[in-house]
Amino acid sequence: MTPALFRVRRRSEEYAGTFTLDIQHKEGTPLPRFEPGQFNMLYAFGCGEVPISMSGKAEDSGGYVHTIRTHGLVTQSLERLREGDLLGVRGPFGQGWPMHKADGKDVLIVAGGLGLAPLRPVIYSLLSGAQTCRSLRLFYGARRPQEMLYTDELRSWGAQIQQVLSVDHADDAWSGAIGVITGPLAGTEIDCDNTIVFLCGPEVMMRFCIQTLTGKGISDSAIYLSMERNMKCATGHCGHCQWGPQFVCKDGPVFDYGSVKQWFNIRAL
Ligand SMILES: Cc1cc2nc3c(=O)[nH]c(=O)nc-3n(C[C@H](O)[C@H](O)[C@H](O)COP(=O)(O)OP(=O)(O)OC[C@H]3O[C@@H](n4cnc5c(N)ncnc54)[C@H](O)[C@@H]3O)c2cc1C
Ligand code: FES
Repeated sequence: MTPALFRVRRRSEEYAGTFTLDIQHKEGTPLPRFEPGQFNMLYAFGCGEVPISMSGKAEDSGGYVHTIRTHGLVTQSLERLREGDLLGVRGPFGQGWPMHKADGKDVLIVAGGLGLAPLRPVIYSLLSGAQTCRSLRLFYGARRPQEMLYTDELRSWGAQIQQVLSVDHADDAWSGAIGVITGPLAGTEIDCDNTIVFLCGPEVMMRFCIQTLTGKGISDSAIYLSMERNMKCATGHCGHCQWGPQFVCKDGPVFDYGSVKQWFNIRAL
C-alpha cells in the first residue's frame, strides 16, 4: 500500500486540460511489465491518489506513461508536475484486456475521447506482433479535431491499421467522419464469428456502441470494455469500487460485456 517514489521524466500537453506524464522510478529501478488495460494509483503529495490507466508500451521497463485529464483536486495537482518533480505510485493493478484472445481474430478497437489512452498499449502490442491478429481496425471518436489524442501516432499507424476517425464538431481542415462513432461502426462489415472488440470511452458512448455491435450480430462475450469507478485501496479491500458483485479494481477494470451486462444496464450503479 505504500507508494513508491517516481520522478517525471517527460511531460507533454495533449490539448488544453489533458497531458501525458512519462514517469520513472526515482532510483531508476527497472519496472515490471504491465498488462495493457491495467492502471496505477498516482499520488500527488498532500492531495491524494487517483487511478490512472497505463497508456505506454507494456514492455518498456524504464518508465510508465499516463495520459490524464484534469478534473478535481488530485488531477489538478498532477497537472502542475514538471520534469524532475516527484510523485507516488502504487501498481500496476487490475485485470487488463484479454490479449491472448486476439490471436487469429479481427480486432476492433473502439475508443471515445480519453478512452484511447488505455487502448494504446493494446495497439502497441498488436503492432509489435506479440499477438497475431487477422486484422486490426480502430474506430476513434472525439468531440473536436483538437481533442484527439496522439495525433502524430494516429498518422504513423495509418499504414498498418484501418482507421475511422470521427469528430462531433469538425473544422475546415478536418477530412475524417463527422458525428458520433456509432455511425461509421454501423456501416462497417464485421465477420461476427471471428471478431473481438475492445471498447473504452464515456459510459453513454459504450452503451450505444454495444447496441450497434450486438445489433450487427456480435456476441456479448466478444465485447470487452473498461469501466471506471471511484477507488481508494485498489486492492479489493475497501469496497469503494464495488459494482454489483464485482470490485472494479481487482476483477476489472476490463470486463467482458456478457458477464457484466446485468449491472451495466442499471444506470448510475
Ligand atoms: C481504472 C481507472 C482508470 C482511469 N484511467 C484514467 C486515465 O487514464 N486518465 C484520466 O484522466 N482519468 C482516468 N481515470 C479517472 C480518474 O481516476 C479521475 O478523473 C480522478 O480520480 C479524478 O480525481 P480528482 O481528485 O482530480 O477529481 P475529484 O475532485 O475526485 O472529481 C472530479 C469529478 O470527477 C468525478 N470522478 C472522480 N473519480 C472518478 C472516476 N474514477 N471515474 C469517473 N469520474 C470520477 C467526480 O465525481 C467529480 O465529478 C480512471 C479511473 C479508473 C477507475
Ligand atoms: S478500490 Fe477498494 S475495493 Fe476497489
